[in-house]
Amino acid sequence: MTGLFITIEGPDGAGKSSLLQQLVPALQDTIDRPIVVTREPGGSAIAEEIRGLLLNPAYTEMDARTEALLLAASRRQHVVEKILPALSRGDMVLCDRFVDSSIAYQGQARGIGMEKVRDLNEFAIEGLTPDLTLYLDVEAEVGLQRIKDKQSNRQQDRLELEAVTFHEEVRKAYHLMIEKDPDRFVVIDASDDQQVVFEKAFQALQSVLKK
Ligand code: TYD
Repeated sequence: MTGLFITIEGPDGAGKSSLLQQLVPALQDTIDRPIVVTREPGGSAIAEEIRGLLLNPAYTEMDARTEALLLAASRRQHVVEKILPALSRGDMVLCDRFVDSSIAYQGQARGIGMEKVRDLNEFAIEGLTPDLTLYLDVEAEVGLQRIKDKQSNRQQDRLELEAVTFHEEVRKAYHLMIEKDPDRFVVIDASDDQQVVFEKAFQALQSVLKK
């Protein structure tokens, strides 16, 4: 039996974490197989260490390619240690961000090139592709404002601190990827009410599970 690999993507402030919190218990009530919830960058001990480096706002000198390589390295470890074993057990893996994030953030917004970053990541993932990607769409400005409103008590991370134009490029890249590969993506308007976003995501996953 093989598992199901679902990723959740979107610009910063799209509400992925809130959606996951609501989605996981609701889904678990409807299926027998275990759900493994994980995230990138991170998801394993080594990958979480790399996450610390990547998001530390002090490291303003980090080169774009260093950033892409660190993300790919953390992804490799995460895939080998956590995602593949779960999929081979037949679990459902729900992963908050995956390769599409690198293609959007490092490939497009940092300017390395979407294809270059895709190729770099191929080395790390060896062909592993999500069965389905939920894409939460939100305008860059709206997403960033949400983060500011919500997190007055927490320091913003290095990527959140990028200018709005950076985040607009991220969104543009996601839209390009969706255009090229429409069957893999379910696009959900994340400016909708949280309950509406949840219901749409829940329905999309129910129909994949039925297949
Ligand atoms: P995340 O923890 O998902 O933050 P948020 O919940 O605020 O979206 O991701 C942290 C940051 O890392 C986020 O700004 C996106 C960025 N990132 C990349 O630039 N490339 C990547 O490949 C990944 C996985 C994340």
